This record gives sequence, C-alpha cells and structure tokens, in this order.
Amino acid sequence: MTASPLVLGIETSCDETGIGLVRGRELLADAVASSVDEHARFGGVVPEVASRAHLEAMIPAFDRALATAGARPGDIDAVAVTAGPGLAGALLVGVAAAKAYALGLGKPLYGVNHLAAHIAVDQLEHGPLPSPAVALLVSGGHSSLLLVPDVAAEVIPLGATIDDAAGEAYDKVARVLGLPFPGGPPIDAAARDGDPAAIGFPRGKYHDGTLDFSFAGLKTAVARWVEARQAAGEPVPVADVAASFQEAVADVLTAKAVRACREHGVRDLIVGGGVAANSRLRALAAARCDEAGIRLRVPRPRLCTDNGAMVAALGAEIAGRGLPPSPLDLPADSSLPVTEVVVR
Ligand code: KG4
Ligand code: ZN
Repeated sequence: MTASPLVLGIETSCDETGIGLVRGRELLADAVASSVDEHARFGGVVPEVASRAHLEAMIPAFDRALATAGARPGDIDAVAVTAGPGLAGALLVGVAAAKAYALGLGKPLYGVNHLAAHIAVDQLEHGPLPSPAVALLVSGGHSSLLLVPDVAAEVIPLGATIDDAAGEAYDKVARVLGLPFPGGPPIDAAARDGDPAAIGFPRGKYHDGTLDFSFAGLKTAVARWVEARQAAGEPVPVADVAASFQEAVADVLTAKAVRACREHGVRDLIVGGGVAANSRLRALAAARCDEAGIRLRVPRPRLCTDNGAMVAALGAEIAGRGLPPSPLDLPADSSLPVTEVVVR
C-alpha cells in the first residue's frame, strides 16, 4: 500500500448514502444521496425506508463518485465502510456493498467507526490532526466528547449524552414549533430573527462536574412553554423560542468542550457531526476557544453532516499507515463502541 492510497468510503449508517473517494488527505469526490424527504412526514428516520433507499442509491452514487474523481474501479487501493454505530439494517447495506467491492477488486476492506470518521474528515480540510485533540461530536444520533490521541488507532470517550442527542432535540423542538424535519436548519434560520435571551431554558448537567450532556429536560421545557402559550390563546414567538433553545444547546456544548480541553491539557478542539453546521454553535465555539487559547477546527457544513468522504478519509489514514484490514466476514455493529476505530 502506498502512503497515499486511493480509498473508496461507503457511509450508510442513517439516512445518507455517501460514497467518497480520497487519495491520502485529498478529497476527490463526495457523492451523497439523502432519503430525508421520504422520512419528513414521519418526523424522524424510518429504518426500513432508509435501508431500501440505500440499496437504490448505492450503485448510482458509486458511479457518480468515480466520474467526479475521473477514476476507474481498478484505481481503488482500499475500501472503507462504516461498520457502526448506526441503524442495523442501514449499516448492513453499506457493509454488504463494501465487501462486494473489496472482493471484486481484490483490495483490502476496512470496517471503520462512524464517530472516528466524523473527526478524520477534518484532515481533508485543515490538514493532519494535532495530537492529542478533543473532539465534540454532535448529530442526530450522538453527542459525545472524545479525547483523540490518534484518530486511526486511539479514541477515548470523555462524556456523552445520557438521553437525547443534540440533533434529536433540534428535531423534536422543530416539531413542537411546526417547523419541518430535520429541525436543525429551520431552527437555525428562525433563530436569526429571535432574541436568545428571551426565555431562560434549562441547561442540563451544566454544573454537575462531568463531561456528560442531557437534552431531554430542555426539549420538554420548550414543549411545556409552547403548550402554555397555546393554552392561553397567545401566539407563539417562534423566533424567540428557536433562538433561546439554540442558545441553551450551544452554551452547554461549548462550555463542556472547553472544560474537556482544560481538564486534559489539550489545545485543539474539533467539532463535527450534523449539528456542527449550526451557526450559533460555530460562533460561540469560536468565541470561547479564542478566550481560552484553544485552536478550533470545524469542517465546512457539507463535511459535518453524514457523507462518504469522512469514511474514505479515515480509511486512507488507516490504510496509508499499513495497519491491518478487517476480515471479509466483518459484521455491521449498530452499537460499535467508539474505542473501536477499525473492526478487526
Ligand atoms: O451527522 P448527521 O447528518 O446525521 C447523524 O448521524 O445523525 O446529523 C443530522 C442532525 C439532524 O438532527 C439535524 O437536525 C442536525 O444534524 N442539523 C443541525 C443543522 N443542520 C443539521 N442542527 C442544528 N443546526 C443546523 N444548522
Ligand atoms: Zn453522523
């Protein structure tokens, strides 16, 4: 294997079918097909619908990625795939496809961790990751703080949500406010016209001394507040509720991320996952890191939400170091622990 292998990355852990092509740390193609519109009327991702959509989108996305990169299947040096965590049926589609490509091309297969891939993708934009770094991963499925001595080999959990993920809270609050699914982008937009200090929503676990999060209480507080207005026959100030909710989320996420850096003597913070696309989270993280003397790295929004490039980026890091591949009977593991960067 060369130090800059051409790696195919396959992501199917939730509702995005992602096919990425990366050479070393250079992004060549990032084809994403989302089934989000098919889930919108249910207000959340329906696993069976997602699995079927992955099956239909896989080969066209593969063809699109190769065409964009100007590459042929025979040019691929290694195949990387999200082995977990994620929706079991959805993961299976990607893992089966990856095995077929690896076997057909006669190339090594790397079953990788979705969370580590969310971190590794930053290398495509900002170069090699500093060691150690702290990563804040916030998406529809996870909210975690991680210590990252080496994204290809060692990721240590520092804290995580004890109930809802941050993105899940966005999606649920959006529903309460009558905004579409997924809730992050419309709340982000509505909040621009609102006052973040209008309503003092609770900041769960803010002062508990841990690096864990809790968003269930916040979500319930927003729902109760909105219901009370409606019961009184008063209009709901959507922009103020959105801004105040968003402020509570960004406040607690950034406060704990900075604390994690301080406690572990780390100078570099990486923020990733779909919620890292949030404008207030990005702004507050920048301000607080600046104040604390922490260097902040956040990939551009398109690389924050689920995609195949992140899987290819992690695969390229692992394969480029000559680390051993996964077995061809690699299982999909819906609850793959974050400490398992690559499945062996
Ligand atoms: O990483 P991702 O694409 O998929 C998962 O692994 O879950 O994250 C999706 C989540 C959704 O909950 C969505 O509402 C949230 O990311 N999201 C945002 C924004 N864009 C997407 N949340 C807040 N602000 C945004 N601008
Ligand atoms: Zn994700």
